[in-house]
Amino acid sequence: MKNMKKIVCILSTLMLVLCTVGCSVNEEQPAEPRLLLGFSQVGSESAWRIGNTKDIEQAAEDYGVSLMFENANQKQENQIDAIRRFIAYKVDVIAFSPIVEEGWDNVLNEAKEAGIPVILVDRDVSTDAEGLTRCLIGADFYKEGVMAAEYLIRKADSLGLDKVNIVEITGTENSTPMRQRQAGFFDTIKGDDRMVLLESIDGDFLKSRGAECMRSLLGKYGDGIDVVFSHNDEMTLGALPEIEKAGYVPGTDMIIISIDGGQEAIDVLKEGRINCVVECTPKLGKELMETALKLKAGEEVEPLIHPVEEVFSDEQDTSLIAPRGY
Ligand code: AHR
Repeated sequence: MKNMKKIVCILSTLMLVLCTVGCSVNEEQPAEPRLLLGFSQVGSESAWRIGNTKDIEQAAEDYGVSLMFENANQKQENQIDAIRRFIAYKVDVIAFSPIVEEGWDNVLNEAKEAGIPVILVDRDVSTDAEGLTRCLIGADFYKEGVMAAEYLIRKADSLGLDKVNIVEITGTENSTPMRQRQAGFFDTIKGDDRMVLLESIDGDFLKSRGAECMRSLLGKYGDGIDVVFSHNDEMTLGALPEIEKAGYVPGTDMIIISIDGGQEAIDVLKEGRINCVVECTPKLGKELMETALKLKAGEEVEPLIHPVEEVFSDEQDTSLIAPRGY
C-alpha cells in the first residue's frame, strides 16, 4: 500500500513536470514566421501614408509575415541605410516606397548581389539597369491625373466657363506621383483652349507647405485663380483655410481638386468646400504580402499591380460615400 502511494505520487509529479515543460515550450516558441520582410516606408507625411503603414502592418500579421519596418522620415539616405540593414540581416524579401525616382542603382545592385528580391510599393524608381526590382505594387498615378482633368473639363462645361485659370500644388519633386499626376493632368487638358496654367508650385505633399504655397499663389493671382489642382489631400487641407482667410469660398469661388480620398477630405467634399477628390488607395498590404510570399517560393509575379480607383465629386450624391478607413 505504502509502495502504491509512492508510485502514484512519483507519477503525478512526473506528469506535472511534463505538462509544465510542454506548456512553456509552446509559449516560448511561437510558430516560425513564413517570411521575413524588410520594408522601408517614406515617412508619415500624410493621412494616406499613415493609412498605408497601418495596412501593411495589419496584412503582415494576417499573413504570418515577420515585418522589419523602418520609417525614413522623408529622407532618401535613411531609406538607403535601411535597405543596407535589411541586406545585412539577410531578410527574405525587401520592399520599399522610394521617396524620389533617381539614385537607387547602387543599393539595389547590392540587394541583387545578395540574392534578395526587391518589391517597389506605391512609387517607382528610374534606372537604366535591368532586373534590379521584381515588381511594382501601386496606384496608376498617370490615370489619377487624367481623371482629375476629365472632371475639370466636365465642370468647366457645366459652368459654361470660357477661360479657366489653374494653379497646381505639386507633391514631392521627382517623386512618381508628382511626375505622373502632373503628366496625366496636363496631357488631358492640353487640347482645351480654355485651360491656362498660372503656376505650378512644390508643396512636398505636406499640409504646412500646402498652406504656404496657397498664400503665395493668392498673393500673386488673387481672384484670378479659378482652379486649385492639389496633388494630395494634405496640401489641399492646408490650402483651404488660406483661401477662406483671403475672403474666397472654396468650392464656389474656386474649383478645388484633390487626390487621395482620405476621410477628412471626403468630409470636406461633403460640405462643398472641395469639388472633386480622385481616389488613391493606400491599401496595398494584401498584394504586398501575397507577392512577397510568391517570391520566397520562387514563383513568377506580375511586374505591375495597380489597384482599381474611383473619383468622388460634387457630380454625385456624396452622402452615399462609404467611410474610407484612412
Ligand atoms: O505616393 C502616394 C502619395 O504620397 C499620396 O498621394 C500622398 O498623400 C502621399 O504622401
